[in-house]
Amino acid sequence: MIRFDILSVFPEMFASPCGSSLLKKALDKGLIDIRLHDIREQALDKHRMTDDAPYGGGGGMVMKVEPIERTLRSISVPDEETPIILLTPQGERFCQKMAEELAGHRQLVMICGHYEGVDERVRTKLVNREISIGDYVLTGGELSAMVVVDAVSRLVPGVLGNSESAGEDTFSMGLLEYPHYTRPAEYNGWKVPEVLLSGNHREINDWRRRESLLRTRKRRPDLLRDFPLTEKEKSWLADEAEP
Ligand code: ADE
Repeated sequence: MIRFDILSVFPEMFASPCGSSLLKKALDKGLIDIRLHDIREQALDKHRMTDDAPYGGGGGMVMKVEPIERTLRSISVPDEETPIILLTPQGERFCQKMAEELAGHRQLVMICGHYEGVDERVRTKLVNREISIGDYVLTGGELSAMVVVDAVSRLVPGVLGNSESAGEDTFSMGLLEYPHYTRPAEYNGWKVPEVLLSGNHREINDWRRRESLLRTRKRRPDLLRDFPLTEKEKSWLADEAEP
């Protein structure tokens, strides 16, 4: 069981991703707990302002520190180690290894940034971690928080069925996955590779491993750089000329 506390000015954005597929099942089964906190509820001025003009001038609005701090104070966390995360394009880049590390915690607190930015005191005084989901800028941190929730949740035992366990995923294995096929064996003249119909499991495993390696070399050579290859695997790669 892992608990996510999400601070947002648009908590309604989470309804759809949390209301379908595996996340919904995980919520229904009590394997994950998602608590949404509307930052605006802690904006106590007449206009419930969660953002304001930047000191020093310039365009755009900056999210205010008080409503965020007040919202955080309303959330109980087990200990000092609990990640209090700000989602921001300036953060550390999210990856499978980070998802695995985060999945080891009992609770994650995530603050979704918006507008031009967030008052610097949120970074320096309130959070202990900043995460970016990639080198592009979104309109806000909500989708990023959902990405983290999704990637972490599927690592929680019981969220995936046995047959779809996370152990053989692309990035856990360090290689891209081999191609998958299902019935029919031929469609529009497009055939499934013969070896997969052969029933010879040693040959099938070799074929999959080889496809995985060739695909990784072609699309993500950076992943192969530190990958320990067997002699057999080296010869597969050598036999297949680089495109
Ligand atoms: N907010 C806006 N863009 C983002 C990104 N790339 N990662 C995390 N949070 C964001």
